[in-house]
Amino acid sequence: LEKTYIMVKPDGVERGLVGEIIKRFENKGYQLVAIQQFETNKDILNQHYEDLKEKPFFPKLLNYMLSGPVVGMVWQGKDVVKTGRKLLGETDPLKSAPGTIRGDFCIDVGHNICHGSDSVKSAEREICLWFPNGIVTWERKCMHDLIYE
Ligand code: GTP
Ligand code: MG
Repeated sequence: LEKTYIMVKPDGVERGLVGEIIKRFENKGYQLVAIQQFETNKDILNQHYEDLKEKPFFPKLLNYMLSGPVVGMVWQGKDVVKTGRKLLGETDPLKSAPGTIRGDFCIDVGHNICHGSDSVKSAEREICLWFPNGIVTWERKCMHDLIYE
């Protein structure tokens, strides 16, 4: 089954929204297969956001992501990368529909509470970066048959 890397950013952690974000993915039917709170540092953030290094907002983004701990999670299920991004909403919370995580809980692009991998390839790279010792996955037998046809 496909996996994605979802990360509650420092504002989301401090605002107590970790449970709310977990609930949205759980309610959808996805399976949580790894979760850990991390202290961030420049080195890992430079790797995580390597495609954004040249953007004018990158220093601001670094400061934001260094402002407190994050909670990294790996979620598993059919089409979870693309559908996970739909659950998050748009990058800009003001353009995110109500009902999405960013549409419901935040306002500014620089404080948009949660990250989601943008492709299966990015997800694999990000999961290896944040969980370098690997993760243990298993199949929820009864649940699988209730959720998938
Ligand atoms: P992530 O799931 O966090 O990767 O967001 P995204 O994929 O929707 O957007 P992108 O990867 O392009 O940007 C990563 C993050 O940088 C965003 O989630 C924002 O927190 C931040 N960001 C993007 N654009 C801007 C901007 O124009 N200004 C500021 N301040 N931050 C930005
Ligand atoms: Mg991104």
